Amino acid sequence: MTIFIRDNYNEMSKAAAKIIAKQIKEKPDSVIGLATGFTPIGTYRELIRMHKEEGLSFKGVTAFTLYEFLGEGFDIIKPYGLDKSSARYMHEEFFKHVDIDKKNIHYFDGFTDDPRRTCQEYEEKIKAAGGIDLQLLGIGRDGHWGYNEPGSSLGSRSHVVALTKQTIDDNYEDFYRKVGITKDEMPHFALTMGVGTILDARKLILVASGTKKAEIVQEALEGPITAQITSTAIQLYAGEATIILDADAASMLSNIEHIKHTEAMSKKYGFRAE
Ligand code: PGA
Repeated sequence: MTIFIRDNYNEMSKAAAKIIAKQIKEKPDSVIGLATGFTPIGTYRELIRMHKEEGLSFKGVTAFTLYEFLGEGFDIIKPYGLDKSSARYMHEEFFKHVDIDKKNIHYFDGFTDDPRRTCQEYEEKIKAAGGIDLQLLGIGRDGHWGYNEPGSSLGSRSHVVALTKQTIDDNYEDFYRKVGITKDEMPHFALTMGVGTILDARKLILVASGTKKAEIVQEALEGPITAQITSTAIQLYAGEATIILDADAASMLSNIEHIKHTEAMSKKYGFRAE
């Protein structure tokens, strides 16, 4: 894996957007996996800027959202409200601002009455699209990857997960409290791509920002591989993984000097060292 450390959130976001833009320019019909949460918002804003100012086109892109809350979803019949779905987030934060073709956007159906079948179908859709070329990911404070909470198998495919108390509390603080949703209304279950699904993507980008992520980033990248911290699976990943951290999120890594040296040497000699 390749780790980039950037001075701040904005620089982290720009670096992530640049890699996604490069992927799309090289392969306009790329299949991209997209994460929700607080961290990728800056990445989406930069991609929107590139679309508006530099003509970056998403016309040929196929998108798969990483997870969805169970019992939630993007219901176009409902008036625009403050629902909690990932679909809504992706629409508001990204899709409605770019030229992606709606028929190429895939979500888990959060309203499903057969979650297991929905998950199987999602796997089949990813396969039918030719697999994910590039998956964007955050990391939860409990180490989750997608919503693969502690105990999700490192080989898992898309599945239903019960969210941890920490994840529910973080979601509430970061988003929902601000829009007047009460703690009682918070979703407790989600449909998520599995760790195995994520590991099948050809490229990964993981973004993390802020001191509150520093400890888990250190454990995910340097600690022992364990299903108790599903993001540690990145250490098993065979494709091209780029981890982009701001200085705060990187602050507990033991090998910061070597990471910076590796990036400087890669730049100097023009190849990717990992
Ligand atoms: P966050 O979530 O970006 O809102 O911190 C990350 C995640 O849950 O993967």
